[in-house]
Amino acid sequence: MPSKRELFLQNVAQTSGLSLALDIDHASGMYIYDTSGKRYYDMNSGISVSSLGHCHPRVVQAIHDQVDSYMHTMVYGEHVQSPQVSYAAELMKLLDDHFESLYYLMSGTEATELAMKIGKRYTGRYEIVCARHAYHGSTQGAESLRSDEDYKQPFMPLLPGIRHIDFNCIRDLGLITERTSCVIIEGVQGEAGVIPPIPGYLKMVRERCSEVGALLVMDEIQSGFGRTGHLFAHQKYDIIPDILLIGKAMGGGMPIAGVVSSKEIMNCLISKPVLGHITTFGGHPVSCAAALATLTVLIEDNLINQVNKKEQFIKNKLQHPIIKEVRSAGLMMAVEITKLKYLKHVVGYAIENGVLIDWFLFNNRSFRLAPPLIATIEELDAATDILLKAMDYAQARYKK
Ligand SMILES: Cc1ncc(COP(=O)(O)O)c(C=O)c1O
Repeated sequence: MPSKRELFLQNVAQTSGLSLALDIDHASGMYIYDTSGKRYYDMNSGISVSSLGHCHPRVVQAIHDQVDSYMHTMVYGEHVQSPQVSYAAELMKLLDDHFESLYYLMSGTEATELAMKIGKRYTGRYEIVCARHAYHGSTQGAESLRSDEDYKQPFMPLLPGIRHIDFNCIRDLGLITERTSCVIIEGVQGEAGVIPPIPGYLKMVRERCSEVGALLVMDEIQSGFGRTGHLFAHQKYDIIPDILLIGKAMGGGMPIAGVVSSKEIMNCLISKPVLGHITTFGGHPVSCAAALATLTVLIEDNLINQVNKKEQFIKNKLQHPIIKEVRSAGLMMAVEITKLKYLKHVVGYAIENGVLIDWFLFNNRSFRLAPPLIATIEELDAATDILLKAMDYAQARYKK
């Protein structure tokens, strides 16, 4: 009889040979418990998803209530579903007046795809500018935005007309021209290893887009919903993009994402062609109900206002000879280690000792910290104690 782990490796498609294969029993608050009863501090939030922790009771209740009334009734946009309507209305209240309309999707990569389509359709241009070492998703359109040529080669041909700029490089803004349909950029680069914008940079990107008539698309799929200490990073850096991409933490653990923009821009999906973008499950009522509860808790429990205090606590605590730098934008954090050889031992020890931390896609010198916003200072204290021990352990391995 094969074990569950063997069946997982055999029958569930894998994307690397290095799966952690943590056998989950249940999860609650900032903790994940495996089937052996071991408790882990989730210092990743499932990559910036579980900002309210796992199974927040108000989110769970909202899901139960919605399941009791209806689930799928019709493809996107055809029926009036209260959870969709209420959520969109609540979100708009928290955004600049420019934002009027939310297109619901199921994943961040779909939001990227839709933004690319809107950019082309609205401007009549096809070039897209994006930043190197950004990650916007794994479908072929979103993948075309990736800067790593070696990675893209096996999937060629991808989309033509993609131009890359270096994030934070002002000179490169000249590559945004009258041929650019849209610029897709993160407010804080996530997978590059948490690279915040230099002062004024995003405002310059905004100005350049306005100058040449290109749409500015901000991918806040990872940085959104309070993670940076503001509801959205563009609010932190005081700019208004034309299009906002949201996902991940939006659903409090349920799959949901979206594209937010003005009515005028979004209306380009209505004609020439009609049904400019369609989806069966986008804005699923159960996910929308979970999203509404998530947003309500985020605001009512004042969680965003506590982010900077928690960020500062972690930064003060993480002092160690093998730490080169801690980069952060709120609780979106990267800990860079002085030598590559230490990192795998730090990550290995931390997980072994009950703290889940993770790697970045495009930065092999740092590990990721993205604890749930509900984590208390005491919990962060206990988790970072273990991280410091992990660093002692890694350092000791190379001492004579
Ligand atoms: C900034 C950013 N954009 C887009 C995506 C893709 O989102 P999804 O995995 O939901 O398709 C991610 C996922 O990590 C992301 O971090």
